[in-house]
Amino acid sequence: MQIARTIAELRQVMGAYRRAAFVPTMGNLHEGHLALVAQAKPLGDATVASIFVNRLQFLPHEDFDSYPRTWDSDCAKLEAAGCDVLFAPTEKGLYPQPQTYKVHPPGELADILEGHFRPGFFVGVSTVVMKLFACVQPRFAVFGKKDYQQLMIIQGMVRQFELPIDIIASETRRAPDGLALSSRNGYLSAAQRQEAVQLSTTLKHMAEQVRAGEAIAGVETKAMDSLRARGWQPDYLTVRRRSDLQAPASGDELVVLAAAKLGTTRLIDNLEF
Ligand code: PAF
Repeated sequence: MQIARTIAELRQVMGAYRRAAFVPTMGNLHEGHLALVAQAKPLGDATVASIFVNRLQFLPHEDFDSYPRTWDSDCAKLEAAGCDVLFAPTEKGLYPQPQTYKVHPPGELADILEGHFRPGFFVGVSTVVMKLFACVQPRFAVFGKKDYQQLMIIQGMVRQFELPIDIIASETRRAPDGLALSSRNGYLSAAQRQEAVQLSTTLKHMAEQVRAGEAIAGVETKAMDSLRARGWQPDYLTVRRRSDLQAPASGDELVVLAAAKLGTTRLIDNLEF
């Protein structure tokens, strides 16, 4: 695996490829990330990953400083997964000047759900992904469905800017008990890890109740109450239509999305149904 630490190094390495498949990450890699790499591998003539903890997408009180940086094990995992190129710029390398040109995704999609609870998050995500795309110039990029709203925003950005990149959506990888794999699961204590499965269990119950004809508002309230009773602090548990994440009308394809804190760890998950 070739490692490029600067944009100039990356450009030189990428000169050899025409149809790269790209997996952007913030490191602290787990099976979920490696599944994205496996999905990327057959797509292009090179598999490229990036590791960059992007300050722009963290709020001041969030875990930017403590976000786990696990360089050696990340490199070993990517190498073993058959990644060809790793782009791992420093902050100064990717943002040599303060990044004052930014990508602002539309508020109807970016200021709801995650964007409501983490204002500016999707400006930070869209800006860094646009910049990473400009550096890597991939033909394909693979994103996980666990970050459902992020995936939709990136798909919209690529469409509206006519970027010549196919965005590939990858199914959420889960632990055997159903917990969606996430770098932040590592923050959970043993007891919290046992409890954490309740988030995906609650999503499954919500989907079943809606399928059985229960009113969505009631299903959402019951789910919030039941997680609160177990010690969670939910931000949202909500049923939306898949096309634009707005409140659904009858006949729409649905997804239920959740974000909730267990102790100080904020987990997100979703389920299409
Ligand atoms: O999903 C992530 O890990 C990040 O939001 C991404 C896409 C790598 C941008 O920093």
